[in-house]
Amino acid sequence: MQTFDNVLLEQLEGNVYCLTVNRPKVLNALNKETLADMAAALEVVAADSSARVLLVTGAGEKSFVAGADISQMQALTALQAKKFGEQALQTFRRFETLDIPVIALVNGFALGGGCELAMSCDFIFASDNAKFGQPEVTLGVTPGFGGSQRLPRLVGRAMAMEMLVSGRMLDANEAMQRGLVNHVYPQAELMEQGLKMAAKICRNGPVSVKFTKELVQRGQDLDLENACAMESDLFGLCFATDEQSEGMTAFLEKRKADF
Ligand code: HXC
Repeated sequence: MQTFDNVLLEQLEGNVYCLTVNRPKVLNALNKETLADMAAALEVVAADSSARVLLVTGAGEKSFVAGADISQMQALTALQAKKFGEQALQTFRRFETLDIPVIALVNGFALGGGCELAMSCDFIFASDNAKFGQPEVTLGVTPGFGGSQRLPRLVGRAMAMEMLVSGRMLDANEAMQRGLVNHVYPQAELMEQGLKMAAKICRNGPVSVKFTKELVQRGQDLDLENACAMESDLFGLCFATDEQSEGMTAFLEKRKADF
């Protein structure tokens, strides 16, 4: 496995990968080197056709990612800042275009770029000490890693506006009430719960899981008619796979499918 300075990439049981942002001294703040490591790690996962699920978390017990690295950003020119934003946007978009489910395990602060990273994953599990927020306006800037666009899509425009213009943080339970987080667990259980969900996903047909992600990701930017047409295409294509015959035969033979 390739090693990176700012990111740990591990292959866990059952073709599950875990990407850990690994700068705990600065609460895993994202500088451009960390974004580059993250992008390279994602390509390792993308190149492994046996990969089934990716977990994303932060090193230590205090923070998932406390945002973009303010010490690196502080002296940027306008054009450098734009480039930095674009680097993160491209890297985060890769979590959405990766063909396997990506679960964020938010183990503490998910602020600014950290909240934006979590929102680029397919869904979020949080530890009970997690805190979510977009505090960019307190630093005199707007979000730059997609927060102004992904947050309203997830929690609705009004709640997103409240968070974006006030910089107020949500604790894990409020984030769950608002639809940002799927489940909240005690911190010591977060990884175990992530692995449990990954194992559940791994028991399903890998191609149908990949198609399902593609439908949800691509479909949300299409009108309903075209999105549903894409669904019937991919649904039909499932019938060209061994997976569909095994899944349905197993049901009729009253046994578990072996994908
Ligand atoms: C650089 C950071 C950092 C960050 C924390 N640190 N967040 N360094 N960038 N985003 C560093 C601190 O400077 C400190 O370093 C160490 O991590 C520990 O943090 P403390 O502040 O001492 O911890 P605590 O008092 O517990 O406070 C935790 C915190 C606070 C509430 C999370 O650190 C904080 O407010 N951080 C910034 C959060 C933020 O504004 N994020 C959004 C960034 S803008 P030392 O050396 O002193 O030990 C963004 C925009 C993206 O993400 C778009 C840009 C294009």
